[in-house]
Amino acid sequence: MLWITGLSASGKSTLANALEYRLHEMGVRTYLLDSDNIRKGLNSDLGFGAEDRRENIRRTAEVARLFVDAGVMCITAFISPYQQDRDFARNLVGLGEFVEIFAKCPLGECEKQDPKGLYKKARSGKIPDFTGITAPYEEPENPEITMETNKTSID
Ligand code: ADX
Repeated sequence: MLWITGLSASGKSTLANALEYRLHEMGVRTYLLDSDNIRKGLNSDLGFGAEDRRENIRRTAEVARLFVDAGVMCITAFISPYQQDRDFARNLVGLGEFVEIFAKCPLGECEKQDPKGLYKKARSGKIPDFTGITAPYEEPENPEITMETNKTSID
């Protein structure tokens, strides 16, 4: 289970897609879970309050575990802002089977990217509980990998 965490627009999906591409070239079977395929389906009943985010991550982690059981390397790309929830995912699989990857990018840089204009809306009060603005993001305490996505090329 390759667990990518980071702020909105921190480069999680870019990283996940490049990683999948490389792993496929190496003959490794992968599946990517992200808010596009999970929040639109299985988790379409969930919003962005703290409890809903916890449930979003809990269900995602359980699905990821099933992929790992089936022998598929599962990559996840979610903000997953709470350390406790990421640790829940870690504890679902065996030692060494969970890799926490921190897509580290300063809030100011993410906000500059703002591909969907969400930070702007959050600043003007149009989106409540927005991560980094009006909702917390707990940086990983001990990630296996930290990618400084605003400093390092994708390669
Ligand atoms: S998580 O916190 O529950 O892990 P998740 O990764 O599924 O979040 O979804 C984040 C994406 O939803 C963001 O990249 C953004 O496009 C969108 N989004 C909509 N509302 C919010 C919000 N209040 N906070 C953060 N992201 C939001």
